[in-house]
Amino acid sequence: MSANERPSGQQTQTYDSPFMKACRREPVPHTPVWFMRQAGRSLPEYLKVREGIPMLDSCMMPELVTEITLQPVRRHKVDAAIYFSDIVVPLKAIGIDLDIKPGVGPVVAEPIRSRADLDRLRDLTPEDVHYVTEAIGMLTGELGATPLIGFAGAPFTLASYLVEGGPSRNHEHTKALMYGDPQLWADLLDRLADITAAFLKVQIEAGASAVQLFDSWVGALAPADYRRSVMPASAKVFQAVESYGVPRIHFGVGTGELLGLMGEAGADVVGVDWRVPLDEAARRVGPGKALQGNLDPAVLFSTTEAVQAKTDEVLAAAKDLPGHVFNLGHGVLPTTDPDALTRLVDYVHTQTAR
Ligand code: CP3
Repeated sequence: MSANERPSGQQTQTYDSPFMKACRREPVPHTPVWFMRQAGRSLPEYLKVREGIPMLDSCMMPELVTEITLQPVRRHKVDAAIYFSDIVVPLKAIGIDLDIKPGVGPVVAEPIRSRADLDRLRDLTPEDVHYVTEAIGMLTGELGATPLIGFAGAPFTLASYLVEGGPSRNHEHTKALMYGDPQLWADLLDRLADITAAFLKVQIEAGASAVQLFDSWVGALAPADYRRSVMPASAKVFQAVESYGVPRIHFGVGTGELLGLMGEAGADVVGVDWRVPLDEAARRVGPGKALQGNLDPAVLFSTTEAVQAKTDEVLAAAKDLPGHVFNLGHGVLPTTDPDALTRLVDYVHTQTAR
């Protein structure tokens, strides 16, 4: 099934929503809006329910995941929910010793750097993440016609955490492996592609209406390296979920030079950060794909007038695109005023009402 055919399962209810229509590049009543990291520390109600519960534990508690996922939908009236989880959850689920350290990010106890280390990356089964299936079942019941976006980390970004052992500015160990042992690197990314594809399938089969592949840190690569060393694995992930016919979104930060290739990897919607205006991004991506983005998340710390002026710029650059999903150019920053987000959703909806 292609992304333009009607599905038959859970996803039927959300099929005609503005978000799904924009992903399919169909006319919409208003430009749909959601925010990467819309659930999380910017919301007092999130801080309250998470109190005393470590991040990764919270991802395995279906009732809590349901509540946290719904919080930004209730508060901001966004056009889509994003499943509350983290990109390292499938790795934890197959037994990798890792933790999410507050204010730091994912930390891996024993980094993966040798052929022997690869054996620790076993296949992911639906039973490994049964709590995801349970939570999505609850969520789709509550969400009705509002689509739920499932997500996963892309092979490169997952590899960067596994090889570095934690967050990294320069990705030196990752690049050392990629250039120094191309075969081991290719095998590592291929294993991660299988795990990622299995994780996305669980989410779609449980009822997610769309999926986003986060390749957050791939902007660290030049296009030739991306094409040779990363694109085959990302393409394998997109290929693996193609038959479901749900929109596939692909996002990374600082990926201006990679936008065309990231679309080519198999995305239906290409996410753009704030560094490239959407009309220029559309030229780089080429026809046949929708775009998502791209207000600088730091703009939300400015005055309402400034937020609106910068939003007008985004909407003007997107006005001739057949499919535009409004979003930030990266995740909501933790100290963002939640009211500024609510106002932004309303502003985009009113400005684009047709
Ligand atoms: O609302 C949503 O967007 C869904 C939730 C979500 C989380 N992580 C929850 C989370 C999503 C989509 C992610 C994806 C994710 N995780 C990415 C890709 C998106 C991006 O930002 O580029 C990456 C690179 C990670 C890895 C990760 N996990 C980082 C860098 C951090 C932040 C560390 C910190 O504390 O500043 C995390 C932890 C994390 N993931 C938090 C949340 C809400 C914060 C932990 C907490 O609230 O205790």
